[in-house]
Amino acid sequence: MSELVKVENLKKYFPFKEGIFSRKVRYLKAVDGVTFSMEKGETLALVGETGSGKTTTGRTMLRLYEPTDGKIYFEGKDITKIPLRKFKKTRVQMQMIYQDPYSSLNPRMSIFNIIAEPLRELKYGNLEEKVLSLLESVGLRKEHMYKYPDEISGGQQQRVAIARALGVNPKFLVLDEPTSALDVSVQAQILNLLENLQKEKGFTYLFISHDLSVVRYISQRVAIMYLGKIMEIGSVEQIFESPQHPYTKLLLQSVPIPDPKDKKKRKKLILPGEIPSPLNPPSGCPFHTRCPYAKEICKEKEPEYVEVERGHLVKCHFAEVIK
Ligand SMILES: Nc1ncnc2c1ncn2[C@@H]1O[C@H](COP(=O)(O)OP(=O)(O)O)[C@@H](O)[C@H]1O
Ligand SMILES: [Mg+2]
Repeated sequence: MSELVKVENLKKYFPFKEGIFSRKVRYLKAVDGVTFSMEKGETLALVGETGSGKTTTGRTMLRLYEPTDGKIYFEGKDITKIPLRKFKKTRVQMQMIYQDPYSSLNPRMSIFNIIAEPLRELKYGNLEEKVLSLLESVGLRKEHMYKYPDEISGGQQQRVAIARALGVNPKFLVLDEPTSALDVSVQAQILNLLENLQKEKGFTYLFISHDLSVVRYISQRVAIMYLGKIMEIGSVEQIFESPQHPYTKLLLQSVPIPDPKDKKKRKKLILPGEIPSPLNPPSGCPFHTRCPYAKEICKEKEPEYVEVERGHLVKCHFAEVIK
């Protein structure tokens, strides 16, 4: 296996004004020094509560946001700073699938046009044939071609979004909670589709999710994110069978519970305590305010990563002490 994507100390800070008349600009550190690499063909899951910086990490890797600092490599090439005009060729190889398929599709365009749009620039011979074969590869048929997004179901909308992304022959896909807005019965179908496409085409996936049962099923490696930082990263076995970080342990204990008010039955991660504001992150270890094991040093000093096993990194002062 060889490496496809790598980020090194990636940061994305959003400027934040206290008030309309305030001159003081502060920064919200949505992604704050993230490092990991991904092998060709693998699925790395990025897991964490809402607001931990998962979406921003994905978007910054594709330079949909310009990184504040750090480096992004694609196929060994540093793509952090190449001018956007020249970046176009690489960018099509990196696609993103969003949580809410309806809002990611232009409601005024037919399915045909939605899928054909990115292909026109690539000058395909027979667009109709190409679009049809893309539709079929995601389990849709010719009859869907001239419908509009609001005339098909949520699962079909997500299939269309996937077909549109596939048309440009990507290698790397950021899947941002691709099934969490869908009915439970449809979720498994979309996950199967994504898995089959990966097997067929060798895609590399960054799979963003807070549903740990899905993560366990679909990914080979898992990164646990909290307040813009990776707290623990390792193989699925390492994370699920021998989690080391207190935050990971808490996540694993808090089985996502279905939200009764939510008709689509999406699951929410419920953890004790509140996630601190990323505008005012805690000193030292960002997790110390919620950590049952926190000691003085955790308030004072940010922990380094400890490699507890090959490829299993933990950002905790007591990584090998807490059992
Ligand atoms: N475009 C933006 N401008 C300002 N702040 C943002 C923007 N996008 C996200 N944030 C903030 O960055 C933090 C991380 O957000 P996000 O990456 O969406 O987290 P997640 O996907 O894990 O829920 C949040 O505090 C969010 O409010
Ligand atoms: Mg998100």
